Amino acid sequence: MRVVLVGATGMIGQGVLRECLLDPEVHGVLSIVRSPSGQQHEKLREIVHGDFLDFSAIEPELTGLDACFFCLGVSSAGMSEERYRRVTYDITLAAAGTLVRLNPGMTFIYVSGAGTDSTERGRSMWARVKGETENALLRLPFKAAYMFRPAGIQPLHGITSRTRLYRVVYALTGPLFPLLKAVIPNHLTTTERLGRAMVEVAKHGAKKRVIESRDIDSI
Ligand SMILES: NC(=O)c1ccc[n+]([C@@H]2O[C@H](COP(=O)([O-])OP(=O)(O)OC[C@H]3O[C@@H](n4cnc5c(N)ncnc54)[C@H](OP(=O)(O)O)[C@@H]3O)[C@@H](O)[C@H]2O)c1
Repeated sequence: MRVVLVGATGMIGQGVLRECLLDPEVHGVLSIVRSPSGQQHEKLREIVHGDFLDFSAIEPELTGLDACFFCLGVSSAGMSEERYRRVTYDITLAAAGTLVRLNPGMTFIYVSGAGTDSTERGRSMWARVKGETENALLRLPFKAAYMFRPAGIQPLHGITSRTRLYRVVYALTGPLFPLLKAVIPNHLTTTERLGRAMVEVAKHGAKKRVIESRDIDSI
């Protein structure tokens, strides 16, 4: 399996990248980043790309791919709807539209989040925009598209978030994870389990298009 990873420098992207590099059935990982990660591995090839709203300049590199793990995203905290939508909806659909045209047999896996609003009409801005993004992805003619909606995620193996807010939250709650996992098992996973579940779904599919937090550990 040859995969493309978008958002590999982030917390979830680093987790997926680790599992891809460890998995013998993943033969190559193409990572699209806006600045070099510094990471090197025989299976990894990194493309540094400037404009995530337009992938036409790198189209020749984006063929022969079986799956996409789309982990790019931002927290909506302090952002206007217009700015949040540009990153969440516009960038995702720009990448997905290019990839599906070049790889119609591709499985596309998108990370949204618990509480995403599929109706696109609720009061929470981020949930509406993520819902709109999910719905647009599900309409594209991929071989299959899956929406992962994790809730809390414990970063393992030295992984950290690019988002300061998440870094602070996870630093404060980290020692409580074993307790929290016992109390709310369906709302917590780890970067390792999430990454492994995403790779598993890319390989073998899943019964549901929308993978909720409670489904991740069982996959
Ligand atoms: N962490 C959680 O607990 C959690 C839980 C549920 C859902 N989620 C969702 O999962 C997604 C990823 O979260 P994360 O925690 O991995 O985030 P993160 O650590 O902040 O990483 C964000 C990633 O997106 C990239 N990115 C952001 N804005 C970009 C832009 N304008 N152009 C190009 N690349 C951009 C970053 O690249 P740079 O390195 O270049 O900045 C980085 O690779 C988000 O949509 C988030 O809402 C996260």
